[in-house]
Amino acid sequence: MQNNPKEPFELIIFGITSNLAQIYLIPSLYDMFEKGFLPEKVSIVGIARSPKTKKQTEEYIYQVLHSENRHHKHQIKEEIFKKLCNKIKYLDGSLDDSKFYKKLKSNLRLKNRLFYLATYPDLYPSIFHNLKKSNLNKQNKGWTRVMIEKPIGDSLKSSRALNKLLLEYFTEDQIFRLDHYLGKEPLLNLLSFRFENGVFEPLVNKIYVDHIQVTAAENFGIGQRGGYYDSVGALKDVGQNHLLQMTALATMNPPKSFSNQDITNERIKLLGSLIPLPNKIVLGQYKGYRKEPNINPNSIKDTFFAFKTEIKNARFKGIPVYIRGGKQLKTLATEVSIIFKTGNVLIYRVQPNEGIVLTIKTKKPGHERALEDSYMQFCYKQHPFEHYLVDPHERLIYDVIKGDQTNFNDSQEVEVEWRFIKLVAE
Ligand code: BG6
Repeated sequence: MQNNPKEPFELIIFGITSNLAQIYLIPSLYDMFEKGFLPEKVSIVGIARSPKTKKQTEEYIYQVLHSENRHHKHQIKEEIFKKLCNKIKYLDGSLDDSKFYKKLKSNLRLKNRLFYLATYPDLYPSIFHNLKKSNLNKQNKGWTRVMIEKPIGDSLKSSRALNKLLLEYFTEDQIFRLDHYLGKEPLLNLLSFRFENGVFEPLVNKIYVDHIQVTAAENFGIGQRGGYYDSVGALKDVGQNHLLQMTALATMNPPKSFSNQDITNERIKLLGSLIPLPNKIVLGQYKGYRKEPNINPNSIKDTFFAFKTEIKNARFKGIPVYIRGGKQLKTLATEVSIIFKTGNVLIYRVQPNEGIVLTIKTKKPGHERALEDSYMQFCYKQHPFEHYLVDPHERLIYDVIKGDQTNFNDSQEVEVEWRFIKLVAE
């Protein structure tokens, strides 16, 4: 059930000093304040372990907003920063201490509540348990929602256990499993491009397509996220989720409607038809990874993977799909490329230079009949609506406060992704 996003609500951030909060969450909240996407009556409760005074909290938010962040490069306006700080109440406490939840409860004022878990997943069970014990998981006169980030679990087994656990404390309409790629403007546009223009779709099949490449290459390392990253590796960090989602969006069949369930069903159908080819995978690790902060010096975790799959349906039968991702690679490029047998390539560019490109051959201007490589493109940067490239977290938080689950994963989708990864790599 969707509701009016202007209704007052309380956002409770478990882990306001986490890397996730610093890179994505706090900058997105700033943007939402600036654009007016948060109701006047919003209150933010930020929780972390060590105590902070009001002044220290402001200094922390200031430092987060002014740190180098490749997704948030814009100027920070003093009045918006102040507005954001005025809405934040900082609470210190241990998330596995049941006494803390009494303090939390006594600090909550509004009937609509969004709990955002920006913490290590091993804290989830005790957070859920304590929320229930303090009766904070229930929807009393308002809504109560919980947001958790990918990866949901770190294997098929643990994701099943986590989904089961979630359902012991919340109903499915309260749970928002976030894969921020589902909120990326160019990927949402991919669906519009495919299904609202009849021109290319009839060509994207085994008759015309040679192969498909799905890539998320990053030209930087793991930064300060060693603790998390070394527990998962590249395949589980981005392969199981972002890259499979890109594959699904680029190759799924048209949904019956653009409703939540119809779109999710088509994504799941496609993900369920990927054929695992366990001996067609390579893993790698970048030089210097073991010397990064918080990495086991003998770690054998993958920072790169590339595997081949195929889609088991009549449309794509036998067409190779190559999926790869990694860190500290030569270039930064996240994209889906459909390589046609004619040599033309249709590229859905997720970043950087977001847009859609079709490579073509054209006649070189002049007297000779010579050809040159050229392209046709739609590029957000050259378009007057560049600023509409909404940050995914901004979109997805807004979706949660509306109660719209279209751009989130349900438990079945998460499990279908893990089942595939298990068959490919375990
Ligand atoms: C995150 C991964 O989910 O996605 C990171 O944990 C990765 O390792 C990031 O760098 C990529 O997201 P984006 O939006 O920067 O492409």
